[in-house]
Amino acid sequence: MNNPFKFGSVVDEPYFTDRTNELAYIKHSMNSTNHIVLISPRRFGKTSLVKKAIKEINRPSIFINLQMAVSVENLASLLLKEIFKLRPFEKVKHLMTHFRIIPTISTNPFSDAVDVSFQPSLDSTAILEDALALLEKVSSPTNRIITVFDEFQEIMGIEKGLDKRLRAIMQEQQNINYIFLGSQESMMTQIFERKKSPFYHFGMLMHLDKIPYDDFMQYITQRLPLKDDRQTNDIAKDILDTTLCHPYFTQQLASQVWEILTYSDVKENIVKEAVEQLTIIHDLDFERLWMNFNKTDKYIMLNLAHKKQPSSTRSLPTSTIYSSVKRLMQMGYIIKINEYEIEDPFFRNWLIKKQG
Ligand SMILES: Nc1ncnc2c1ncn2[C@@H]1O[C@H](COP(=O)(O)OP(=O)(O)OP(=O)(O)O)[C@@H](O)[C@H]1O
Ligand SMILES: [Mg+2]
Repeated sequence: MNNPFKFGSVVDEPYFTDRTNELAYIKHSMNSTNHIVLISPRRFGKTSLVKKAIKEINRPSIFINLQMAVSVENLASLLLKEIFKLRPFEKVKHLMTHFRIIPTISTNPFSDAVDVSFQPSLDSTAILEDALALLEKVSSPTNRIITVFDEFQEIMGIEKGLDKRLRAIMQEQQNINYIFLGSQESMMTQIFERKKSPFYHFGMLMHLDKIPYDDFMQYITQRLPLKDDRQTNDIAKDILDTTLCHPYFTQQLASQVWEILTYSDVKENIVKEAVEQLTIIHDLDFERLWMNFNKTDKYIMLNLAHKKQPSSTRSLPTSTIYSSVKRLMQMGYIIKINEYEIEDPFFRNWLIKKQG
């Protein structure tokens, strides 16, 4: 029997639950000429949701992770590479004859994968314009290519003014729907909600939440390998009390619980046992993270591990606390839903244990 829980990569049926309204909204928007901005903390399910919506409306798409783009030339190469996955180079090369800077294109003879690169150039705008113009040309108004930029906030770090140049090109395009994904809430809202930003209101803003409790409860109880309904419910409840419905960590913990129930003799405190096992597996990582925190970070993390909010800590100046909270959020160690919480329930457990 296969483990019915999945974590760590994009999920679709049968590992996908809820998100009915979000799916409908994305599909609806992609059938118009609008763009979408989708924001959530890391590992909430942005990529899974968008991939599922695209699959259901059966439209061509390309995915670019801006974390992988280190320069404008590099971004243009990534775009071209993705375009060649949709339309073979041989079939579109006649659309590239006007390219102002010619990329080097090579094909791996074994895998047929195409590699694209540009020499560093003085005119990176021309390179980007040409790549995006090709994207527009290979697309069509009746079957618009959905172009997804993951971790879009990274645009601000690639090259100064890139946001302005990108926006100038994109606003002229007719045949593309853009989806901008981002996990840095404050930077994403700066980009799309600040009046002076070139991308101000460029797409419809959507925040992705955790998965609702009742839905996750049903998802877990249907998959646990137990006959006793009450025990099943108690275990599912313990899982969600630990993970607070975080999509990734819930699937990870449920998966570990399933392993224990299926392959071990442990009969009691199953969820506690699974949490312990996962905490031990990550011990070295947590140790390393901890060593890189400064004193204020440590103070805040320890308080949060005991569910004490940063605002209730009075022994440090408020500005010191909040610059640390901001940094910890940017690095993804804490998230804010209604209140601040430690993102990783196993790290939280590790902190509580280390404190004795
Ligand atoms: N709709 C869903 N139903 C059940 N589990 C989900 C769902 N969406 C996400 N998950 C869980 O969360 C994990 C992360 O999903 P995904 O990679 O789509 O998130 P993401 O927000 O794109 O993450 P990242 O910030 O790393 O790019 C999945 O592997 C899965 O375990
Ligand atoms: Mg993702």
